[in-house]
Parts: sequence; C-alpha cells; structure tokens
Amino acid sequence: MQKITIAIDGFSSTGKSTIAKQLAKHLGYIYVDTGAMYRAVTYYAMKYDFINATHFDVVGLVSKLHDIVVYFKLNQETGSADVYLNGENIEQAIRTLEVSNFVSQVAAIPEVRYQLVKQQQKMGAKKGIVMDGRDIGTVVFPEAELKIFMTASAETRATRRFNELINKGEVVTYTDVLHNIEERDFLDSNREDSPLRKAADAIEIDNSNLTIAQQFQEIVKLAEAEIKAR
Ligand code: DC
Repeated sequence: MQKITIAIDGFSSTGKSTIAKQLAKHLGYIYVDTGAMYRAVTYYAMKYDFINATHFDVVGLVSKLHDIVVYFKLNQETGSADVYLNGENIEQAIRTLEVSNFVSQVAAIPEVRYQLVKQQQKMGAKKGIVMDGRDIGTVVFPEAELKIFMTASAETRATRRFNELINKGEVVTYTDVLHNIEERDFLDSNREDSPLRKAADAIEIDNSNLTIAQQFQEIVKLAEAEIKAR
C-alpha cells in the first residue's frame, strides 16, 4: 500500500498531537511533533539566558543554532518518542507554561524556522508520516496528500490545557493559561515568516464539541480514504 504524508495544523492546544499520535500508531506511520522542536530551541534559549522576561538576544541565539541538536528517541516505557536536546531528555521540561510563554517569539525567528523545517522535510522524505504543527500543510509539506486544520474556541482550549498542567502538578491559573493561548494565537498568526494559516486544500475540523474518539474516527476515515485513492 502506498504511503502518504499527513499534515495536521492548527491553533495551540487544539489537541493536534493527541490525534496525530493515535493516527500514526493506527497507520503504522512515524509521528513528529514539530511544536516540541520549537519548544526545544526555546528551552535552550532560556537555559543559556538568550531570552528572559526583560531581554531577547536574537543574534546571540542565532549564532548558536549550529550547536543545538534536537532529535526524538523512543521511550520504551511510554511507547512514544521523547524530545532530546544535545543528549538531554527534555520531554517534560518543554511542556511548562514558562516555555509556552517564550516559544512564539523564538518560533518567529526565520533562521530557527529554516533549520527546523529542513530537518522536518528530511524526516518526512519517505512519506508514511503524520506531522503536526502550524505550517506543515503550507510550508513543510505543501504537497501533503491529507491536510487537517484543527480549531476550537480559546476558552475550550484553555480549559483543556489548564487541566493538563494542573494534573502534572504545575501551579497555574486558568486566566494565565487563557492569556498565553490568546497571545500565542496572535503571535503565531501574525509573524512574517510562515504565519499560521489554513492551507487552501486543508479540511477544517472544529473539535470544541467532539470527543477524542469522535475526532479520531473522523480523521481515520479521511486518511484511509486518501490512502485507498492512491
Ligand atoms: O504545538 P505547540 O503548542 O507545542 O507549539 C509551540 C509553539 O511552536 C507554537 O506556539 C508555535 C510554534 N510552532 C511553529 O511556529 N511552527 C510549528 N510547525 C510548530 C510549532
């Protein structure tokens, strides 16, 4: 059976990665969470103080890009891939609200995007991949056979993300989470390089009132029809 490329884009916290991961497992495809790659570079920028609440040394960070090695490795315990930065497992460290607060600024740097997009295109060169992000259907794989664009209201997304962070033991307020989501929506949609856009040929799914099982069912149907049509 011929393998295809599946791009899943959309706003922050729309549950893209949950569905993309399940879909990849179902099809026996590779799954790549590109948000984790931008988060990894942000984590590096924070660790070496290129970015903090009062300053952002873009030139300094860009000069270190060749030192930043981001990759995924299977975690035998969870059965899914963890993200690594220069040998350090940072899967948990990149999911904090603090990283979320800086990531859209780092993801707006063209040199960062250029390097990560090149790596993402290599990962998907043989197809058989489900990749989620913001620019997968528009920039990384404009030729993807199936493109999904996920949306949900900011309040729905903030509630989901708030519960997730609280369950992990983070001390956050709903208002802070909602504010972060609205700010990232704005920054991701308005940056100059590869802004978040629905590709013309993407299928939009508003999942505000859908369970994960319902979304999965809908997307599997679309993917299987596309694979059969090849
Ligand atoms: O999917 P996520 O919330 O983990 O992504 C974190 C940030 O990374 C998001 O606010 C925007 C950026 N991003 C991007 O610019 N392009 C991608 N392909 C994926 C993520």
